[in-house]
Amino acid sequence: MDFKELSFPDAPLIKTIPPGPESQAYLSYQSSHESSAVSYPRGMPMALRRGQGATVEDVDGNIYIDFFGGAGVMNVGHGNPAVIEAARQQLDEVTHSLDIPNPARQAMVEVLSEVLPEELGKVFFGGPTGSDAVEAAVKLARYNSKRYPMIAFEGAYHGMTAGALSLCSGSPFKGDFLPLIPEAHFVPYSYCYRCPFNREPETCDLECGKFLEHVVEDSHSGVGEPAAILVEAIQGEGGSIIPDERFIPRIRQICDKYDILMIDDEIQAGFCRTGKMFAFEHTGTVPDIMTMSKALGGVGFPISAVAYKERLDTWPPGKHIGTFRGHVIAYAGGAAAIRFMLENDLADYALNLGEMILSLLKGIEAGSEIVGEARGRGLMLGVEFVQDKATREPAPELAARVRTLCHQRGVLIEIGGHYFNVARFLPPLVLTEELARRGVEIFADSVRDLEKSGR
Ligand SMILES: Cc1ncc(COP(=O)(O)O)c(C=O)c1O
Repeated sequence: MDFKELSFPDAPLIKTIPPGPESQAYLSYQSSHESSAVSYPRGMPMALRRGQGATVEDVDGNIYIDFFGGAGVMNVGHGNPAVIEAARQQLDEVTHSLDIPNPARQAMVEVLSEVLPEELGKVFFGGPTGSDAVEAAVKLARYNSKRYPMIAFEGAYHGMTAGALSLCSGSPFKGDFLPLIPEAHFVPYSYCYRCPFNREPETCDLECGKFLEHVVEDSHSGVGEPAAILVEAIQGEGGSIIPDERFIPRIRQICDKYDILMIDDEIQAGFCRTGKMFAFEHTGTVPDIMTMSKALGGVGFPISAVAYKERLDTWPPGKHIGTFRGHVIAYAGGAAAIRFMLENDLADYALNLGEMILSLLKGIEAGSEIVGEARGRGLMLGVEFVQDKATREPAPELAARVRTLCHQRGVLIEIGGHYFNVARFLPPLVLTEELARRGVEIFADSVRDLEKSGR
């Protein structure tokens, strides 16, 4: 299919610098009636009217190239017609069924079994959010191993419910709510740009992998025998971090050697985003348990799932439940989305387009004093802003200003990273090359203008 048909033809188009008057009215209503915890409109002030493909329109008629993609939800594009049609048909059938089987649910399990590795033979649907899938995965690991401690990674983001939040590393997320669930331990991720072992790729002997093994193997490390190691095969909110290619295989080896379960969180990286159906497929390993959400629901229908090895299917009925354990419209829409991914070779498309975009971003890195590193795989990309390339001192305020400039010029990007200094690109995978080039040009101009203005 020609993805061009999916997006607004005239993107980007800025009629009024956002937030325009209509958006301002919505924002003002929101801030007086909704919680002060609302966050995204602070960085991207606007109200949305419509989305199509890799583009969205605000209520003032501004049309944006969407490099944000609903934080990694919109892999098949806003309003994907195949997904909308499947969901529409399902609306006339049944729309809620707890976990009683129905044709839509079965169709979802069937397509998941086509795309999951053979080893992950069991699928479980809990509550509709990614956080709930993480809770379920951790409970499953603890239930099977009869152990409690968990190991997660610096830079990890796994969600906001108490168990998932305890496994997030960031103090800005959890600092005000401590103590959370005990026995969550953190070790360094393979974040080569900021290696805590002071190595550069040329001198690296995978010290992060060695350190992880030390923590597991030394009974005086302070970490009791872990139930599981929870990892993102490519780290998302941590700043689009691509680990050393030996890192995930090393975790697998350690898990096998010490009889620890390996949980891979694919909630953000899954469903073709990184150039494979799931990011772990780049690593030659298979986890024991895997979480999914976000793009699993097609165009934003809420759903999450956990896939796991059959031998772990020991928990009795009701060990993890919820009123919305699965979502029938999301089964229908999500199954259509996965079929769309397969029919359109979306993983390969994302890989190739991502390479093209990354080479443009690397060009920006080479010519800029405030871009420390551009990195990524497929369409999970990041640009890390620094005060100074030599010291690598993080520059969160520059990242925030670039986001604002991009927004005002018709491109949406997200900010993440350990220091909130990484511009993150998570566009719908149906982004055309033309929109990608135009969007990156606007990003490059914004970086240049910021530098020219003396910051
Ligand atoms: C890797 C990862 N895990 C878990 C979550 C939590 O998902 P949710 O926000 O749906 O609870 C997220 C959300 O960004 C995520 O990126």
